[in-house]
Amino acid sequence: MEVEKDKEDDTDYSSGDLFLNKTYVQKTLECSGCTINVKMLDTASTDYDLTGQIIWPAAKLLTQYIVSKREEYQNGSILEVGSGVGICGLFVARVNPNSVVSDNNDIVMELLEENAQLSRTDGYPCQAVKLEWGDMANIESVKKQYGTFDTILGADVVYWRTSIIPLFLTIQQLLTDSSSASYILCYQSRSSQTDTYLLEQASLHGFNYEFIDHQSFFNNNNNHTLNLLKSNDNDNNQNGNEGNNNNTNNQQEEEMEKEKETKSNSYSIKDEYLLSIMKLIVFKRKNEDSGDGVGVGVVGVVVE
Ligand SMILES: C[S@@+](CC[C@H](N)C(=O)[O-])C[C@H]1O[C@@H](n2cnc3c(N)ncnc32)[C@H](O)[C@@H]1O
Repeated sequence: MEVEKDKEDDTDYSSGDLFLNKTYVQKTLECSGCTINVKMLDTASTDYDLTGQIIWPAAKLLTQYIVSKREEYQNGSILEVGSGVGICGLFVARVNPNSVVSDNNDIVMELLEENAQLSRTDGYPCQAVKLEWGDMANIESVKKQYGTFDTILGADVVYWRTSIIPLFLTIQQLLTDSSSASYILCYQSRSSQTDTYLLEQASLHGFNYEFIDHQSFFNNNNNHTLNLLKSNDNDNNQNGNEGNNNNTNNQQEEEMEKEKETKSNSYSIKDEYLLSIMKLIVFKRKNEDSGDGVGVGVVGVVVE
């Protein structure tokens, strides 16, 4: 009897699963007439290492950029790195059947697979693949499976200085050799040293860069905003959570939920400060004949 009781109390508090939140919510997002269905966490993850379960502001801005230019991305193949929830790749999949989303984290991969599956169910092919930046064996196997890509997207994948070189090694291997091939990066600047280092490494890895002015495509009043159309909180409790079936007839609660949803139905970035620290950069391979050199980019100017 004593032994049984001991067993019952034998909780492993060091297990990462204790802090794992997989209570995903399914949402319908709209941008410029394109809609996608995605699952995500509605709140920040409780695990500090799991950044890919929510949508980051950079992904919202990059989505708006891509959707505003969607005609350009209808052809060729597209890879998103560090996709997390995967909205950039999923929106691209609405116009391009050769869209691949990727991440290195197993928990995030489960979610990403589900989101790619939702896209396929809606009739828009999208593949999800595990890809660890800088892992040459992994990169080779992705290359073998999909070939190289005409466009690579990355949203908020620059936050640790140490991931910059592995990322460029990955881009070098997976971007086609064509002069029009591009790596489009959008991130929230957190340190000016990291910003400078990123551009130095771009040049050292053979890339020119061009900063894109947000105002060239982004305006809260135009139709390239990203909106939440619908949220279905009961649809998805992957972890065996039962949802709140017993409470669904609580009208007051439902009304409060609806009100909350209406308030948060714009997924655009309205915070001026956040926008001001958002960097959107297009990298292209240097033309070997044109010489090189590290430079400080100016908005809208190609630096070679
Ligand atoms: C800040 S989140 C951004 C997620 C998504 N792109 C967005 O903006 O909403 C960074 C993502 O990069 C992934 N990541 C971090 N390190 C990585 C690595 N070494 N290789 C591949 N993915 C990585 C994380 O798992 C996470 O999903």
